Amino acid sequence: MVSFEVNSEPVEFGGDEDTPLLWVLRDHLDLTGTRFGCGIGQCGACTVHIGGRAQRACVTPVSAVRDASITTIEGLAPDAETLHPVQQAWVEFDVPQCGYCQAGQIMATADLLRRNPAPTDDDIDREMSNICRCGTYARIRKAIHRAAELTAKGGSDAS
Ligand code: FES
Ligand code: FES
Repeated sequence: MVSFEVNSEPVEFGGDEDTPLLWVLRDHLDLTGTRFGCGIGQCGACTVHIGGRAQRACVTPVSAVRDASITTIEGLAPDAETLHPVQQAWVEFDVPQCGYCQAGQIMATADLLRRNPAPTDDDIDREMSNICRCGTYARIRKAIHRAAELTAKGGSDAS
């Protein structure tokens, strides 16, 4: 049995401890915002926060998150009425095209801004390794700068 927390709720998983965290989230907890892309840790579609750090859930066995605190895209915003600043910036810049990669992009960005509150374009290019098959990279970069600004102003409703 592996016990951990997802979006501040306690969770127990009694299946094979080698099961990737991604499938525990999607199939057992019905948290389908975290996507399956490549399954080999390359694309970032499955990015979640484990202990506050962005990690790829497709290559993380559930045994590795014992007692850890995990946040998925469903739990990123502070409450149901309030968008996280990164989500707010994504809406402002209409970032998604097909949308498939975007939960992972948002989770990776939230971690980037936690570590580096005012990233330069070079920082963004170096740190953001998530792949977007629709090529939304220019809008992602603009939205990251906007999210940094919103975060610095202390909330998602700053303008
Ligand atoms: S699905 Fe996990 S990195 Fe691609
Ligand atoms: S928006 Fe389509 S893959 Fe990124």
